[in-house]
Amino acid sequence: MFITFEGGDGAGKTTQAVRLVDRLNATNHRAHFTREPGGTPLAWGIRALLLNPEESLEALWRFGLVSTHEPVEETLPLTELLLLTAARTQHVERIRAWLDAGLIVVCDRFADATRAYQGAARGLSQEVVGFLEEQATGGIKPDLTFLFDLPVEQGQKRKQRSLRRSFVQMNLFETRPWNRLDRESIGFHERVRQGYLEVAKAEPERWVILDATQPIDKLASEVWEVVSSRLPLPPDSLAPSDS
Ligand code: TYD
Repeated sequence: MFITFEGGDGAGKTTQAVRLVDRLNATNHRAHFTREPGGTPLAWGIRALLLNPEESLEALWRFGLVSTHEPVEETLPLTELLLLTAARTQHVERIRAWLDAGLIVVCDRFADATRAYQGAARGLSQEVVGFLEEQATGGIKPDLTFLFDLPVEQGQKRKQRSLRRSFVQMNLFETRPWNRLDRESIGFHERVRQGYLEVAKAEPERWVILDATQPIDKLASEVWEVVSSRLPLPPDSLAPSDS
């Protein structure tokens, strides 16, 4: 089974995806957590270039792997799409192997993120996005997708809070700028939200839309209820209570 978690920035989906994997493993299912862009070393490298181009190029320059130290140019929308597609192509090989090995794969973002971010928000054509999706995924599709939907401003506030928390945990008290996509306008993030809602509406049998403004534990139970109803549960796997 292939389950994906989608939503705007700060929707809390990563926390929920990790919780689901923990709960599946605790109930004798074998589940694996992964995320995009990422999931393989090459794909993590592409992620760094995409999300933090300045720091990535700075690091490459320090290692003598690039010879220029001029400021990084703007990442063009098509470049963004192609790099994400390259990362996904690498990742899908692994996803296939995990699924073949009988694992439940829980992925934090997948091809629907490209439809929402690069398609709806950046304005790249659906045909191009769809064609590249097919090439990268080779037809692999999630069986179930959760959309964590919440108003953009609430997502931004949450993201700010969680960044601050992780900086404090890591003893990093200076405020580092957000990643390249976090820094996009409210209008961009609005288009992402509407894009997701449209994609979800077109395939209601695959999508479950959740109100991400709800408390973490409530959302976790909603996710569990849906997932457990679709799994052939082993006899010794009575769901532990949520409390
Ligand atoms: P990340 O910090 O992981 O954000 P989140 O925790 O919200 O997932 O950054 C991933 C960013 O990459 C996020 O802003 C969405 C963006 N993205 C795309 O634009 N297209 C894609 O296809 C994927 C997978 C991610």
